[in-house]
Amino acid sequence: MIAIGSDHAGYGLKREIMRYLDAKGIAYEDKGCFSEASVDYPVYAHAVAHAVADGEAEKGIIVCGTGIGVSMAANKVKGVRAALCHDCFSAEATRLHNDANVLTMGARVIGGGLALKIVETFLNTPFSGEERHMRRIAQIEED
Ligand code: RB5
Repeated sequence: MIAIGSDHAGYGLKREIMRYLDAKGIAYEDKGCFSEASVDYPVYAHAVAHAVADGEAEKGIIVCGTGIGVSMAANKVKGVRAALCHDCFSAEATRLHNDANVLTMGARVIGGGLALKIVETFLNTPFSGEERHMRRIAQIEED
């Protein structure tokens, strides 16, 4: 199951992503927000991040205006590795190297076509499992 969330700025793109997930038969849970009325993005970033950290969701997707605020908020939750990606190379690399479990994007930065390709890449790329990457990921939690 994928946990998905957005603030008001990301609401439209989030709905586009949910339509894509519906079409692909991928299960998800929408953690809000539920309209374009102005809200505070950390609330929805934390809701998605906790769903992933608690094992309720396998991965998360969060959209705000830039993708930056939700990325900062999600990465405060222990066990979450949120990656801000606006290109497919980064989406693939962050799965292979960082085992990123949350994807964040900015609806004011990229269009829907590219965003859906990024989602597809992120969801379909496995972690490499290579020892050097596992060691570095473990070091992220050490500071
Ligand atoms: C909302 O105006 C905007 O600040 C938010 O969507 C996001 O871009 C924050 O990082």
